[in-house]
Amino acid sequence: MSAEFSILPEALEAFGARTAIVLGSGLNSFADSLDIEAAIPYDAIPGLPASRVPGHAGAFALARVHGHPLLLARGRAHLYEGWNAREVTAGIRLLHRIGVHRVLLTNAAGTLNPAFPPGQWMMLTDHLNLTGTSPLLGVPNFIDLSDAYSARLREIFRQAATEARIPLHEGVYASLSGPQYETPAEVRMLRTLGADVVGMSTVLETIQARALGLEVAAFSCLTNWAAGIADGTLSHDAVMDTGQGAARMLIEIFDRALPRMIAA
Ligand code: HPA
Repeated sequence: MSAEFSILPEALEAFGARTAIVLGSGLNSFADSLDIEAAIPYDAIPGLPASRVPGHAGAFALARVHGHPLLLARGRAHLYEGWNAREVTAGIRLLHRIGVHRVLLTNAAGTLNPAFPPGQWMMLTDHLNLTGTSPLLGVPNFIDLSDAYSARLREIFRQAATEARIPLHEGVYASLSGPQYETPAEVRMLRTLGADVVGMSTVLETIQARALGLEVAAFSCLTNWAAGIADGTLSHDAVMDTGQGAARMLIEIFDRALPRMIAA
């Protein structure tokens, strides 16, 4: 293979994490709820693009859950920052390189499903890749995506949410490149296409992770009604605020689910 990540901070591999969580906009408070042993900024790792979006921290955090190592990726790179599909997914290849087997992706999303209100969470059952690109371009890598989001992991999180009495919807995430939010006409189109929520990340990471054989689960924090569904204008600040408020709900679900999952 290529020489990608030939220089790596030793602590990252030595930590021995098999599970990683990618934290999206506004979800950094999840990391604050855990014991962090060390932090490694993305810019300490040659080949890893550093996120430039406010609210995205840009560092790995090494944490433990009931003694098991858990790697948190605080912040990610996005197409809308000007990175390409390979660059956006470099972090996933890095995780695979250091021995991670399963990745939990989180994101902020607008909701188009009237039954999935803002402030709640949706677990992805499937996605629509409407970014127009793929991290696998250039290689005839015809991977099967019929169960991109692990049924086994979904069952663990579904049970944990039921026990915690926290709503956890399940549905389809559509990803566009952004950075502009959608028009009302685009939102109507997305509903027709079968999307429940819309965002600007995650699908390329899922594709890359599945191509490397990683198990994937993904969660959307529903931060707002998508354009044209309710009155008002969309702002990044409002998206961040709702994300922070809802983070506590995912923390409770993860608290129950992670020990079951990491031990497996
Ligand atoms: N559209 C796209 N991405 C988003 C949205 C939205 O409404 N909210 C948060 N991320």
